[in-house]
Amino acid sequence: MNDQRDSSTAHHLPKTIVLVGLMGAGKSCIGRRLASRLEVPFVDADAEIEKAAGLTIAEIFEKYGEPYFRDGERRVMTRLLQGEPCILAAGGGAFMDEETRTLIKERATSLWLRAELDTLVARTKGRSHRPLLNNGDARTTLQQLIDTRYPIYSEADVAIDTGMDNPNITAARALDALEKHMGTTLATVP
Ligand code: S3P
Repeated sequence: MNDQRDSSTAHHLPKTIVLVGLMGAGKSCIGRRLASRLEVPFVDADAEIEKAAGLTIAEIFEKYGEPYFRDGERRVMTRLLQGEPCILAAGGGAFMDEETRTLIKERATSLWLRAELDTLVARTKGRSHRPLLNNGDARTTLQQLIDTRYPIYSEADVAIDTGMDNPNITAARALDALEKHMGTTLATVP
């Protein structure tokens, strides 16, 4: 319990907010800002998977393959969705898993950070920790992922467009959209 918090300004995040979106959409960046505005923990599912496995995501893919990674991802997401409300940045593939998606719909509010191809390409460039983008042309892969995943991501409760704007502005828009969806004020920190 946080006894330091003045009860007159205390807020209550009723449910975890899960950030959904492709690699480079800004889930961690926007998620951290939302968490600090709402004074709740920020949790990065990829980091939790790495912690549980004692390996990086790239190592898990390399040693055991993607299906093994997806099993671990499903288990970690299930555990995290059973915990205290937080801002949870899911890996780009998590919402594609039917079981995880169902659980997210039951237990959380999902926020899709929708980004255009150019944004995703620019934001993932020069980074090598994402195995899906390490083989072949990243732009082609990201376009394919847009085609296959966006129809499913569109099942998220809330969606906002993200571009190359200042992340504080994007986070403010995200908060606004979430508050509208939930019909309540969430932020306590200006
Ligand atoms: C993946 C996205 C990555 C990570 C893994 C697979 C995906 O997370 O989970 O490399 O399938 O889209 P980020 O979206 O946080 O980069």
